Parts: sequence; C-alpha cells; structure tokens
Amino acid sequence: MGGAAGHRLVGMNNTPTPSTTTAGLLTGKVAFITGAGRGIGAAAARLFAREGAEVLLAARTEAQLKAVAEEIRASGGTADHVVCDLADAASVRAAVDRAVQLYGRLDVAFNNGATGQPPGPLDELPEAGFDLVSAVNFKGPWLAMSAEIAAIRATAGRGAIVNTSSVGSLAGNPQLPVYGAAKRAVNSLTASAAVTYGPEGIRVNAVAPGTTLTEMLHTWDEESPGTIEQLNARTPLGRAAAPEEIAQAAAWLLSDRSSYVTGTVLRVDGGMYA
Ligand SMILES: NC(=O)c1ccc[n+]([C@@H]2O[C@H](COP(=O)([O-])OP(=O)(O)OC[C@H]3O[C@@H](n4cnc5c(N)ncnc54)[C@H](OP(=O)(O)O)[C@@H]3O)[C@@H](O)[C@H]2O)c1
Repeated sequence: MGGAAGHRLVGMNNTPTPSTTTAGLLTGKVAFITGAGRGIGAAAARLFAREGAEVLLAARTEAQLKAVAEEIRASGGTADHVVCDLADAASVRAAVDRAVQLYGRLDVAFNNGATGQPPGPLDELPEAGFDLVSAVNFKGPWLAMSAEIAAIRATAGRGAIVNTSSVGSLAGNPQLPVYGAAKRAVNSLTASAAVTYGPEGIRVNAVAPGTTLTEMLHTWDEESPGTIEQLNARTPLGRAAAPEEIAQAAAWLLSDRSSYVTGTVLRVDGGMYA
C-alpha cells in the first residue's frame, strides 16, 4: 500500500502545505511506468523507487522488466512488472489495473514507452509503419491516460501524469516525420488533459527529451550514421543526455514540488531548442 506523508502535501483549496520532513520526492506514491525495461523508463523506475515510490514497470520484453525490477528490490525498493503492449488496448488497461491490484492505489504515471521509425521522408514510410507509430506513440498514451485517470480517481483521488514527448515534436521533422507528428499529438493530449482534469487535482505534463543515449537513439544513429554527432553539435551543452537526466525532470513533474505546474511540455534538451 502507498504509505504515509509524501502524497498528502497538498491541502485545502489545492494549495500545498509546507513539509517538515526530508522524505524522497515521491515517498508514499504508487507509480506506473511504461517503457520501463530499458533507457529512460528504466532510469525512471530506478530513480522513482529511490525517491520513495512503489513502482510498476511495463513494456513488452519481460526479461528486461524483470531484471530492472529485481535490481530495484535488491537495493531495498518496491517494484514489480507487468507485460504490456501499448498497441493493445486490453493489455494497457490490464497493466494499469495491475498497479491498483498490487499496491492498492495509483498516484502517478509516466507514459514513456514508444517506438522509433526508420528515418526518411514521409512518403517513404510504408503504411504499416505509419500505423505502428500511431498505435504505440499516439493511441498508446491516450489509452494509458484514460485508464490512469480512472484508476487515480477511484483510489488516490488526485495525482499526476507525465507523458514522454520529444523535441522532435516542436518543429518540422524531415528525418522522423511520423514519429514527430505522433509526439506533437501527445503534446496536444497533454494540454487537453491538463485542462480537463486540473479541477479535480490531477496534473498532466510532458517532458520533451533531446538527444538521449538509449537504444532508440543508437538505432537511429546506425540507420543514419553521424546523427548523434550532428545533434550534439546543435546542442549548447555539447553532449547527449544520460537517461537519468530525463527521468529527473519527470520525477519532479510527478512530485508535489511541482504542484502548480500543469499542461506544460518541459524541454530537457541541453538547450537545443532554446
Ligand atoms: N533517446 C532519445 O534521444 C529520445 C529523444 C526524445 C524522446 N525520446 C522518447 O523517450 C521515450 C523512451 O525512449 P528511450 O529513448 O528510452 O528508448 P528505448 O531504450 O528504445 O526504450 C523504449 C521503451 O519503450 C518500450 N516499448 C516500445 N514499444 C512498445 C510497445 N509497443 N508497448 C510497450 N512498450 C513499448 C520498450 O520496451 P519493449 O520493446 O520491450 O516493449 C522500451 O522499454 C520514448 O517515448 C521516446 O520516444 C527519446
């Protein structure tokens, strides 16, 4: 069960009440994380658990999920996993329900899982590729948010959701056009959800990572050699992010420390889009 003080920092009239404890950022919260087997999602699962959350990790590859969850438990955290395909509505709903079955509530969710696309002009992507990116990266977050809102309402009553967008959603994206479009759709869903659910105390934000050293980026770099170098050259901080640097932003947006932030797309991009 979700424990003591951390998630009760918000008092009357939606205003935060000061905390006198030094609890972790997410102490007492139950967190559901998609794409948690590797990359940004795995870093988030480890970080959220260190910050006091009970975490449920979701993705398709069970071996990866198991390994990360075991590592978290070995470090003293609370973690479990559920196999989930974001392209399958029933499996997304079942995965969110599993968080409530396991931990008795849902407070926060990080909708982070997504697929890449082969780089190239939009007319060269086969229709099946368009359908896959749309299903996983656009419909998937919508399905997850719908289930999460219901679960938060039924249990914690208030909470927070963060969706993983991309800086690739913010401008024309000739290399990854359908991926960029799906992520822009996620920005729109994020804003709409923030407006819809704000009155009941559910905040909804997105993080837009820049170049982040994960399998997805390495695959893009293999398909278009030199990509990472070119992206780093456009980045004021001059380097790619470690996955944990993105997870840190998500943790803050899910925590009560960002209690007046909703509807935003937070770039975590080393200044690339400044
Ligand atoms: N890396 C970057 O530079 C970058 C930049 C901007 C935005 N992002 C975004 O960051 C997020 C995390 O990506 P990452 O960079 O950490 O990539 P990653 O290492 O490839 O991780 C992607 C995760 O999503 C899961 N996933 C993929 N398809 C899925 C499906 N159909 N159902 C359920 N889970 C699925 C993967 O697990 P399975 O394959 O086992 O299902 C994996 O756990 C994504 O939303 C991505 O678009 C990344």
